[in-house]
Amino acid sequence: MSENMATARACANIAFIKYWGNTDDLLRLPVNGSLSMNLNGLYAETTVHWDATLCEDALILNGKPAEDAARQRVATHLNMMRERLGLTGFAAVESQNNFPMGAGIASSAAAFAALTVAAAQAGQLELSERELTTLARLGSGSASRSVPTGFVEWYAGETHEESYAESFAPPEHWNLVDVIAVVSGEHKAVVSARGHQTASTSDLQPARVRGAAERLTVCKNAILNRDFAAFAEVVEYDSNLMHAVMMTSRPPLFYWLPATLTIMQAVRLWRTEGLSVCYTLDAGPNVHCLCLGDDAQAVESRLQGLPGVEKVLVARAGHGAEVITPTS
Ligand code: PMV
Repeated sequence: MSENMATARACANIAFIKYWGNTDDLLRLPVNGSLSMNLNGLYAETTVHWDATLCEDALILNGKPAEDAARQRVATHLNMMRERLGLTGFAAVESQNNFPMGAGIASSAAAFAALTVAAAQAGQLELSERELTTLARLGSGSASRSVPTGFVEWYAGETHEESYAESFAPPEHWNLVDVIAVVSGEHKAVVSARGHQTASTSDLQPARVRGAAERLTVCKNAILNRDFAAFAEVVEYDSNLMHAVMMTSRPPLFYWLPATLTIMQAVRLWRTEGLSVCYTLDAGPNVHCLCLGDDAQAVESRLQGLPGVEKVLVARAGHGAEVITPTS
């Protein structure tokens, strides 16, 4: 591999305490801190080559030249890295997701974490993990949480430097599994950046934000104590609050499909029947069913039997972003 080239791999992540809304849209400073788990096996792998002969940034996405909007978003992120880090020249970027595109799994967190780590390494910069999380955040807020390993907290902060993420438990800490019920693989109609901008138009957002720090503490303690009952209660509540804000924003955002609600209700029923499982949803209709490892198979097969479930993906807690030697 040439000197100015590097490849990095980063997992997607699922938030237990959600990020929704910014105090600063440009810097992506969130209105509240958030918590997540990296999703092992669902990752983006990105190669960056800083190439003095290029006259613009180039992007190959999943083997094909990317559409202009995607290339532009990557170029904007690289501009920011050039400015902040004193890098020069343009970059050839090649990125692929190992999880099926259009499976409705948020890919921007994995993509911008991998892009940031690969671009810094290819530019021969030795940055701390904390610094990498702040840079990844500028591409996509949740990307900051895909840089550290395992279970991760992103501190809201009031400045660029203060708004960073760090791991609070390694992947082995708790055998928690995300069994993802895919009900629609279609791309979401409203990108999350627009949703963050309209979150403050909901009368419910101040109430959601007011309680966020307390929910975060409850959730973090539940994870540290491996207390599934406490975890389930706060995770579902936090997801419901975010979706209530989405639905009452102006214009409103309705991400659920009929199958989404069917699954949410089934998950609550299965919990009363003894399975350790709860749900959380991002900005889309697919349902992340979080469960203890012993119950993962039962949850997977029950989900497969529900109407409207197109596919089920399974992910355990994953590692942080890392520089790798590509296989091909
Ligand atoms: O990082 P973004 O801008 O794609 O926002 C992510 C928002 C949610 O997935 C809905 C919540 C979260 O904390 O991941």
